[in-house]
Amino acid sequence: MSNGFETLAIHAGQEPDPLTGAVVPPIYATSTYKQDGVGGLRSGYEYSRSANPTRTALEEALAAVEAGARGLAFASGLAAEDTVLRTVCRPNDHVIIPNDAYGGTYRLFAKVNERWGLRYDPVPLGNLDAVAGAMTQKTKIVWVETPTNPLLGIADIAGLAELAHENDALLVVDNTFASPYLQRPLELGADIVVHSTTKYVGGHSDVVGGALVARSKELGDELAYHQNAMGAVAGPFDAWLTLRGLKTLGVRMDRHCDNAERVVDLLLAHPKVTQVLYPGLGEHPGHEVAAKQMKRFGGMVSFRVAGGEEAAVEVCNRAELFTLGESLGGVESLIEHPGRMTHASAAGSPLEVPADLVRLSVGIETVDDLLADLTRALG
Ligand SMILES: Cc1ncc(COP(=O)(O)O)c(C=O)c1O
Repeated sequence: MSNGFETLAIHAGQEPDPLTGAVVPPIYATSTYKQDGVGGLRSGYEYSRSANPTRTALEEALAAVEAGARGLAFASGLAAEDTVLRTVCRPNDHVIIPNDAYGGTYRLFAKVNERWGLRYDPVPLGNLDAVAGAMTQKTKIVWVETPTNPLLGIADIAGLAELAHENDALLVVDNTFASPYLQRPLELGADIVVHSTTKYVGGHSDVVGGALVARSKELGDELAYHQNAMGAVAGPFDAWLTLRGLKTLGVRMDRHCDNAERVVDLLLAHPKVTQVLYPGLGEHPGHEVAAKQMKRFGGMVSFRVAGGEEAAVEVCNRAELFTLGESLGGVESLIEHPGRMTHASAAGSPLEVPADLVRLSVGIETVDDLLADLTRALG
């Protein structure tokens, strides 16, 4: 098979069903599998926590589009993240985390795994010297989100991979915002890619899921062992929906990027907008790195509003076509106030976000309608 991105997304792991020729992998709604005599498994399937053919199809497709050795599908992005931490780390190990990241990721480190002895330090990952300075002999993971949620910060994946490996640590990249269509961290030296497939990979706001893709088979197998032992797997229907979304990721991402660029232009020209955060802008501090490691700059746009928190909340409340809601990456546009919504769990922490910040997930609706809605919402 040729290996263009869209070809892999549509065909990898998705051979027509051997029994019927169905071109779409069926939803195998079964918990267990008949054995042909004790231990006589058909194609290795014995119990659906360990493996299920619908999930296998998704896992193979994810591994292919991220250029990894092994993909794994989970019940949510956070379940995937927790599996990485508990596979790689032991009590008293240390993890470097971004000083800007999804609030729930921060909560997982600060409120859950810290109680089990995992140490962490939030570091500005755009600054390689700061990362080098934060490394200890116990550092097992450098955890990167790029672009970050919600400030759209950029970290240099290749530079961080080199730094992590010099210190015998792994580089883990949360690739949720970029998606594998725009950025492939494993090709830049990362060891594990994490996704909330709830977002661009699923793409239709109809399923919660997560994924891991490992660069090496050994690490992939270790993660798979823990996936089965810990149990937070994707169910077959969720895997099927996510796989259906993945097939159109390329065309969706191009339209997300087109529309986001138009939205950025509107915001830049608007008197009530004090700052636009988008890695595609020449003045963005991470622009050069983003241009080097991303195909385009994505569908997420954040901006700050003159008038502070109340003004930012008002913009969110007034928008109509931009639906007020958490999450991102679906075909429909969403607007939110990170300080009071997705990042409320980071309040009072080094990851607290500015109160005047609004985050947009720019969807693929008719762009003129999106621009008209934002103009109205900004007042
Ligand atoms: C960048 C990023 N990583 C991880 C997650 C967690 O994923 P999930 O909500 O699927 O558990 C999110 C959720 O918003 C996210 O935005």
